[in-house]
Amino acid sequence: MNNFWQKLAKKKKPFFVLAPMHDVTDIATRQMLVKYGKPDVLFTEFVACDGLVNKDAKKILMKNLRFLEDEHLIVAQFFGARPENFRYCAEVARKLGFDGIDINMGCPDKSIVDQGAGAALMKNPKRAREIIRAAKKGAGDLPVSVKTRIGWSENEIESWLAELLSEKPAAIIVHGRTKKQSFAGTADWDAIKRAVEIAKGSGVVIIGNGDIKSRKDGVRKAKESGVDGIMVGRGVLGNPWFFNHKVKIENVPVAERLEAMIEHARLFEKFLKGTKNYNVIKKHYAVYASGFDGAKGLRTELMGTKSAKQAWHVVKIFLRKNRV
Ligand SMILES: Cc1cc2nc3c(=O)[nH]c(=O)nc-3n(C[C@H](O)[C@H](O)[C@H](O)COP(=O)(O)O)c2cc1C
Repeated sequence: MNNFWQKLAKKKKPFFVLAPMHDVTDIATRQMLVKYGKPDVLFTEFVACDGLVNKDAKKILMKNLRFLEDEHLIVAQFFGARPENFRYCAEVARKLGFDGIDINMGCPDKSIVDQGAGAALMKNPKRAREIIRAAKKGAGDLPVSVKTRIGWSENEIESWLAELLSEKPAAIIVHGRTKKQSFAGTADWDAIKRAVEIAKGSGVVIIGNGDIKSRKDGVRKAKESGVDGIMVGRGVLGNPWFFNHKVKIENVPVAERLEAMIEHARLFEKFLKGTKNYNVIKKHYAVYASGFDGAKGLRTELMGTKSAKQAWHVVKIFLRKNRV
């Protein structure tokens, strides 16, 4: 098997991974990261596995699986509840040239959990194990990983991880929160440390996730917990330099940050016009345009725009009026 997770774990500790984020880690965001600071592994946003088997839905969903050659290593993430569909999705991802397949076993959203997918699989270990087995069949020589949480309503890492380890996925990504917490409170890195201890000797690579503020923070958390890799989600919002060890966001002039924001918006339109609504990029605007004098007013104006061209016009006027 081409287990790049294991190769990375041997070569570099910690290695860094971009977290899958719905309507965030699309091709435009990933291209920004490739240019300004590429992590060792990129993830797509999650794709509905049970939808991909439907001919009509497939047309739309395939757009979320588009990537460019400079994005390797790249993993396709799927959520779903049916093992046979995971086999099919893994086959599709393999044919598209992905480097790995990841199964979402952590999403707390009601719409996902009600389908028996995402975090619901923590309540149904039998099904979770069938899904891993099915995905492995479709994946061929590609490694299959699982992204999950530490438990449903409390820390159940001992029993839950044992279930997953018995299927020997290539890697397990542990977000240090329960399903019940959703995004509240803080990630429990002691539970992640425990996951590393439990997995010791299994050959399964463990990646920690939750609340990583900077690259330096990630290196420290990896040392403390013993994880092989660090996955980062929200930290990359408004900061395509996150994984670049040569750049600190605090030192990037505001004008440069805003220019990067517009570049991001243009890529969004180039790749995703007709697929995603322009409003999706405003999630990024809210973070790029923050933390400096006049940011609030600028954000309000950006929220009223309808295209990257209009956003650039707003930014040009802001930069002319403000010395930032
Ligand atoms: C807007 C948003 C969308 C997300 N979408 C996904 C997803 O598609 N698949 C997934 O496994 N996790 C998803 N997550 C969870 C993240 O991958 C990550 O586990 C979580 O944000 C904690 O990491 P962080 O503190 O570094 O952000 C999402 C999180 C956010 C904020």
